[in-house]
Amino acid sequence: MIKQRENFGSRAAVIMAMAGSAIGLGNIWRFPYMVGEYGGAAFIILYILCSFILVLPIFFAETIIGRRSRSNTFGAMRKLAPGTAWKWLGLLTIVSPIIILSYYSVVGGWSVEYLFKALTFDFTDTPPDQIQGFFGRFISATWRPIVAHTVFLAMVAGIILAGVKKGIEKFTKITMPILFVLVVIITIYSVSLPGASKGVEYLVKPDFSKISASTVAAAMGQAFFSLSLGVGTILTYASYVRKDENILASGVGTAVSDLLFAILAGFSIMPAVFAAGITPGAGPGLVFETLPFIFNKMGVAIPWISALVAILFFVTILVAALTSAISMMEVGVAYLTEEKGMKRLTATLAITAFAWVVGILCSLSFGPLSGVSLLGNSIFDFLDKLCSNWLLPAGGLLFTLFVGWKMSRADVKDEFTNGGTLKANTRLFGLIWFLLRFVAPVGIVAVFVTNLLL
Ligand code: PHE
Repeated sequence: MIKQRENFGSRAAVIMAMAGSAIGLGNIWRFPYMVGEYGGAAFIILYILCSFILVLPIFFAETIIGRRSRSNTFGAMRKLAPGTAWKWLGLLTIVSPIIILSYYSVVGGWSVEYLFKALTFDFTDTPPDQIQGFFGRFISATWRPIVAHTVFLAMVAGIILAGVKKGIEKFTKITMPILFVLVVIITIYSVSLPGASKGVEYLVKPDFSKISASTVAAAMGQAFFSLSLGVGTILTYASYVRKDENILASGVGTAVSDLLFAILAGFSIMPAVFAAGITPGAGPGLVFETLPFIFNKMGVAIPWISALVAILFFVTILVAALTSAISMMEVGVAYLTEEKGMKRLTATLAITAFAWVVGILCSLSFGPLSGVSLLGNSIFDFLDKLCSNWLLPAGGLLFTLFVGWKMSRADVKDEFTNGGTLKANTRLFGLIWFLLRFVAPVGIVAVFVTNLLL
């Protein structure tokens, strides 16, 4: 079935959609708790290094493959390397984003619930001594988090059904700047809280004695997760990108904005964590335990501002989470519709159903199923670690091997420099080629090996 593929309309739309995929709960929810779990500033330094040396090259690899093939991840392998085992890479990168979607949607549900609480003034109306148990009470309930997860996933499916242009493109444009301003406001407030300076210190004074093999693996995993790489998401989006787009500029633009967002989120949360006396290593609940404290405290000072900031904040977080979640679902939908001839509706429903069931198990792993342990982790943590620390870097590794060793240098150069028309890209190509062929693959394998052996 030959069908005209849709394209993103403008350059700004491409950057916004990619940044929309990259910027999400990974920055606002995952980054702060990773920093807390792995010891602060030293982790941040490793994360920055991994982002630029190991992970940004994967962005180039995925965009080169996606735009060259104008296909979903499986189709890309079929077109660029027909009849080879590379098709398994195509399949791997269809499965992993669907697993991520399952547990991501649970956290997306938490933001739905918190938006509801903000709208009903729960943060400002609860007495300060009761605010600390807020998250614990919510998460240990069986049904409420599942309902929230369902609502979130239904929204994702709805947007996906609206199609690439109308759904994804329009959605991302307006909300990102609003989110940025709100995070700045919360950061300023958070840093001004009594006791906050310990949190700031934690973020800027590295203690390198805390670094171990698992810290490096976690930093690399976070960089992959945050930039949506190694799962075919950026590849799929790049397949909708016009031929005159600049891959280098979109990559650097996406990586820098994503990084800034994460670090800013760290500064908005960590000082308040210390001010509230919460343990930085509290795990996935960290941000959701801290935010009620922030809004409650802010509410004691000026209730209406706090209520307003809380509502706007959760609306924008929700949008940020949605723009990332739709990018995960789009990978599978593109595959099922283009390769299996499924209708968009059927494909969307199939993926939604899978993510819904797995998501329920993840949600219950904070409550009734908290006793279930997979290799020493809860179901939620297990899937998250499996994806971030293993599946994403493995997908990324294979993408860079594909571009660096399977595709011809001439083809890669042609795609990266738009047929030699982009001067800066042409000048930098030697460096990029070296990163793609040697630095990124060797680096990722080195992290894998040390993590396995140490
Ligand atoms: N990068 C997204 C975030 O930070 C998560 C994501 C991972 C999206 C993998 C797509 C693929 O929230």
